[in-house]
Amino acid sequence: MSDLRPTAVIVLAAGEGTRMKSTTPKVLHTIGGRSLVAHAIRAARGTHPHHLAVVVRHERDRVAEHVSQVDPDAVVADQDEVKGTGRAVECALEALPADLDGTVVVTYGDVPLLTSETLAGLVAAHHAAGNAVTVITATLDDPTGYGRVLRDEAGDVAAIVEQKDADDEQRAIREVNSGLYAFDVTVLREALAEVGTDNAQGEKYLTDVIAIARGRGLTVRAHLVADLWQTEGVNDKVQLARLGAELNRRTVEQAMRDGAIVIDPATTWIDADVTIGPDTVVRPGTQIHGASTIGRDCVIGPETTLTDVEVGDGASVVRTQAELAEIGPGATVGPFSYLRPGTRLGAKGKIGGFVETKNAVIGDGAKVPHLTYCGDATIGEGANIGAGTIFANYDGVTKGHTTVGAHSFVGSNSVVVAPRSIGDGAYVAAGSAVVSDVAPGQLAVTRAQQRNIDGWVARRRAGTKTDEAARAARAADARAEARADAEAAAEVEAALASEPGAVSSNDRLSTDRTTDTKDAQR
Ligand code: UD1
Ligand code: CA
Repeated sequence: MSDLRPTAVIVLAAGEGTRMKSTTPKVLHTIGGRSLVAHAIRAARGTHPHHLAVVVRHERDRVAEHVSQVDPDAVVADQDEVKGTGRAVECALEALPADLDGTVVVTYGDVPLLTSETLAGLVAAHHAAGNAVTVITATLDDPTGYGRVLRDEAGDVAAIVEQKDADDEQRAIREVNSGLYAFDVTVLREALAEVGTDNAQGEKYLTDVIAIARGRGLTVRAHLVADLWQTEGVNDKVQLARLGAELNRRTVEQAMRDGAIVIDPATTWIDADVTIGPDTVVRPGTQIHGASTIGRDCVIGPETTLTDVEVGDGASVVRTQAELAEIGPGATVGPFSYLRPGTRLGAKGKIGGFVETKNAVIGDGAKVPHLTYCGDATIGEGANIGAGTIFANYDGVTKGHTTVGAHSFVGSNSVVVAPRSIGDGAYVAAGSAVVSDVAPGQLAVTRAQQRNIDGWVARRRAGTKTDEAARAARAADARAEARADAEAAAEVEAALASEPGAVSSNDRLSTDRTTDTKDAQR
């Protein structure tokens, strides 16, 4: 296996990509959560080359910086003002050690669906046949724009001729050059020195190496790839979306083969670096981005977007937007929850409907179930945060942090003004504004005493529907009480009548007076 390692892979990424019509360099556009050039580098790395070079020129600094981030060991090679794929490869060879021998693989930074397996297959075929050059080719229904592959009687490759330089007979050929090759590095170096720029585009063509190698009696063969997606490049935003959708289809399919249950693959978007455990259900309209990892037996979605989120086994995340967050095993999130960076929800914890969290560590079994802003907070295990609680973390100048202890209870509609500490096992009464710390076991109450003002509606809202409703309710109450009093009096009378020496009905208490007294108390 080790001698099948290429000496170097050269990734070409110096072109302008004008058809993208974008201020972002073409190879920095992303599909499946990775830039096009990151896909290319990953495929190249998968062949375990001794050297990896990326050729840059257009938007040089942006592309070079990104390449170094993606792969710090990659050599960034600068192409000079001489144009063409041949010159690009020459510049890469100049940036690599001068004494290279063995196989050099050339790929493009804008061909994102190419896999390491395909490149390894190319290298294996190149070695097995003892070729000087092996080129990956594809047969297309519409070969317009591509270099055509000219074969000799033996079926070997005689030359590649560019669309712009081809005659009608050559243009009718449907086998095209994908632009992906394996070269013997010595042949490549020597042939490139001979390549000129006498062609329709005035460029130094890499493809001219083939005719030169053939002229020296060396063997050039084609390695035909059937999966056309793997050789398709991105030239405009339509192709970007097309290849993005196909990559997603492949990623979602792989997730299902790995054990995930995807209800609707057509509306599910999973980035290439995401992992999903077996028997996790991904419901429709869900996007799982970045380096997210989802455990087993979870429910994700519907309509959920997770970016760089870690979800523990058995958790449920419904109609939620979350980024850079951790959701513990068995926890429940949603519906309609917004988890911002730094949210960490413990095992079996809960973040419920219309709750926003940020930089919030919520302990095991703790619950933030309804309508809460929980920013810059640490909430102990088993604590309960009542509906409508606001952690006021910002005073207009600085952010403050609040701690709520284990098994504490914050009543509904409270505001906790940071920085604040509420101890373990403490209570905050509903509707409180907490502006000083609460010790373990204390109850904090900050509300004003309730005052009920009699007759206010009759005086200040006379004649309104409200007044009518109040009068009707009071009249109904009065009738009900009169009825109850009359029944009670009748019972007393019946009891007395059945006894010897019974008193007359005139001696009992007036039911009318009782009613009047109660009425006045309202
Ligand atoms: C090239 C091939 C053509 C093949 C096609 C496949 C040549 C002469 N032609 O044509 O046979 O069918 O690819 O897509 O090689 N690049 C540089 N520096 C340059 C020019 C290009 O790095 O000076 C890079 C581009 O960034 C791109 C790749 O090389 O990633 C291909 O360049 P492009 O201009 O698209 O080549 P084509 O003309 O399409
Ligand atoms: Ca191209």
